[in-house]
Amino acid sequence: MRPRDFNRSWTSKFHVPTIQPVKRRPVRVTSYRDHEPNRADTLSSRYTHHKSVEDDFELEEIVGEGAFGTVHAARCRATSKRYAVKTRTADKKNGVPKLSDIVNEEITNEAMFLTAAKHENCLSLHALYIHPDDNTYSIVTELCHGLDLFEYVVDYYRKNVGIGMKERDALLVIKQILQAIDSCHRAGFAHLDIKLENFVFQKTEEEISKLNADLDSSPDSKPVENILKLVDFGSASWFERAGYAESSGDYREGFDDEYDLQKLTGTAYYVPPEVWQGRFSSRSDVWSVGVVAYTMICGVRPFENATHTKNMSASEVERHVEFNIRTNPTVKFTEPAWGGVSKETQELIKGMLQPASMARSSAAEALELINERLL
Ligand SMILES: Nc1ncnc2c1ncn2[C@@H]1O[C@H](COP(=O)(O)OP(=O)(O)O)[C@@H](O)[C@H]1O
Ligand SMILES: [Mg+2]
Repeated sequence: MRPRDFNRSWTSKFHVPTIQPVKRRPVRVTSYRDHEPNRADTLSSRYTHHKSVEDDFELEEIVGEGAFGTVHAARCRATSKRYAVKTRTADKKNGVPKLSDIVNEEITNEAMFLTAAKHENCLSLHALYIHPDDNTYSIVTELCHGLDLFEYVVDYYRKNVGIGMKERDALLVIKQILQAIDSCHRAGFAHLDIKLENFVFQKTEEEISKLNADLDSSPDSKPVENILKLVDFGSASWFERAGYAESSGDYREGFDDEYDLQKLTGTAYYVPPEVWQGRFSSRSDVWSVGVVAYTMICGVRPFENATHTKNMSASEVERHVEFNIRTNPTVKFTEPAWGGVSKETQELIKGMLQPASMARSSAAEALELINERLL
């Protein structure tokens, strides 16, 4: 059973539906419509609006709640296999497209990006149901049994009696996060809502311990590791052509360019300076990983002065963080926890939190640094 008693008050989601276009340096802007027919075909074979999700799946317990919908465990009536079902209302005021838009586009953004991200660290899509009668749609995906990363970090602090994760434990998690993000970027899109709550462990710690206890004792058998899955692709945006890596051999092209954002989405604490100004690139996700990494290791969010925010409401804290990121986005390692962390790991995080997206590490570069120098 996943504990549900964690206090999430230090995170909250904001959503601003539209922002004014801003001046930017000239870049190529692409639309997924230009190059996505194949993905739409792939997805349309898995989507239906002829029946309800509950015709095929029996909904069971709630496994998560986000700003836009509830996620249930569900059992497939035909095979008895368990999945996750996320149901959302198609409602413009929540920034979700109207159902007619969805049907016109054939697919929802979220389901489309879920099919595009093919990696073991990204959630995999099973089916999509559109329910025109009550203006909702349901996304059926693989079910994760473990904690989400927010819960995991709070649980880790509790078990280790203190705030902050050990450097190596944090790096093992950051590595999985970067693998997920790198795979999105290689597929040509940025996720744009990277945060602790949007990663979930595939298995519970008990399941992993049991698998390891059952391993035979031969020296070749490797311990089973829990796989972290990136979820919630509802804010993602294309920045480059589908299948670019395969066709050109140079998947990095387009990674550095900034593109205009259609709408500002995300969670204030994790939003990079360029996104506040209405632009994004693949490096916007890397900034958010920097925020996740910083927070996991020292237990305090960067760009928030905790003494100032002690008595503020959640929305006041968000405005305070936004102001700091817009005006002085230079990260400082002054918390006591940083005293015990290697210079290399601090450099890794500094590289991910470079204010100018062009100067920021890519996910692939950060991953290389972890694999070759830090783990
Ligand atoms: N496939 C899944 N298996 C288990 N838990 C999930 C799954 N997908 C999402 N969750 C949980 O549900 C929460 C909300 O889901 P998410 O897709 O992030 O919705 P929202 O768009 O509303 O934020 C997540 O933070 C996570 O804890
Ligand atoms: Mg979410």
